[in-house]
Amino acid sequence: MLDQLNTLKEKALRELNAFTEVMQLAEWHKQYLSKKGELTQFLKQLGQLSAEERPIVGQAANEVKQSLKEFFDARQQSLQEEKLNQALADDEIDVSLPGRLYQRGRLHISTQMLRKINEIFSQMGFQIYDAPEVESDEYNFQLLNIPAYHPARDMWDTFWINDQVVLRTHTSPGQIRAMKEYHPNPIRVILPGKVYRYEQITPRSEHQFYQVEGLTVGHNIKMTDLIGVMTEFAHKLYGPARKIRIRGSYFPFTEPSIEIDMDCILCSGKGCRVCKYTNWLEVGGAGMVHPVVLRNGGYDPKEWSGFAFGLGVERPAMLKHGINDIRSFYGNDLDFIQQF
Ligand code: PHE
Repeated sequence: MLDQLNTLKEKALRELNAFTEVMQLAEWHKQYLSKKGELTQFLKQLGQLSAEERPIVGQAANEVKQSLKEFFDARQQSLQEEKLNQALADDEIDVSLPGRLYQRGRLHISTQMLRKINEIFSQMGFQIYDAPEVESDEYNFQLLNIPAYHPARDMWDTFWINDQVVLRTHTSPGQIRAMKEYHPNPIRVILPGKVYRYEQITPRSEHQFYQVEGLTVGHNIKMTDLIGVMTEFAHKLYGPARKIRIRGSYFPFTEPSIEIDMDCILCSGKGCRVCKYTNWLEVGGAGMVHPVVLRNGGYDPKEWSGFAFGLGVERPAMLKHGINDIRSFYGNDLDFIQQF
């Protein structure tokens, strides 16, 4: 019987040492040390032994039981330590690895130019005035001296939301909003923002783009003030060598109306592909605020005068970076956008 006991002990220890998972320990404990376990079953056979043998085998069995318990506890502890060490090793941080690069965001090329323009006019004392992109027919056209069915409406291809509501075709409706808000005080604001036109998209025209509108209202404001501000703007954006010229034009909301050109930044007036051999680049439309528009804004044109201008934003950005296709601005091509 002592042999049997030894075999049992050896088998139990072999199994115990082979375990790799803590979970297996419970099974083992049940198999050998529980009430229904093999050792208990063995002890039950003691009754069949003679009075001399019984205490000897009994004591041996108890010793085996005791040592199995000790081995069990030790194995349990060592297995847990192994697991812990393994987990720590798996989690180890290699501080010599190069860090993961974070992609840095940046401002869109249009936003960069827009902010540059805002900054230049801010330095000249213009406040920034925000106006909505969804406008009424009244503000986008009528109050700007463009009645319904007036042929001048053909100058703006329009996205109609319904009979009365449009996506603004220019930033000019903001002029009326600014006048109504600031009346009866003098005004010096710019109105930067997106405008929309129902146009075919080509390398030179998009159906959405930015404009920066300018508006002043005051006493004795003259065309020369407008030209002075435009010249200063060109100098601040492109350097003091730039020259400005004006041409007569037509807008229903300015009188007189002009187009402002600047000598070509590339060839300085010698003629090149950028200026299409005209030596001049368009900067924007402008003029003296029309008396009807002043009145619509609440100002008496006998006492007040002012000038207004509308500048493109993408065009100067294209000039600055030598971009020849306006569609790139909204094409969502990261390779293009990330260059700026
Ligand atoms: N709103 C005009 C346009 O988009 C530009 C402009 C603004 C002209 C202000 C004169 C005065 O074409």
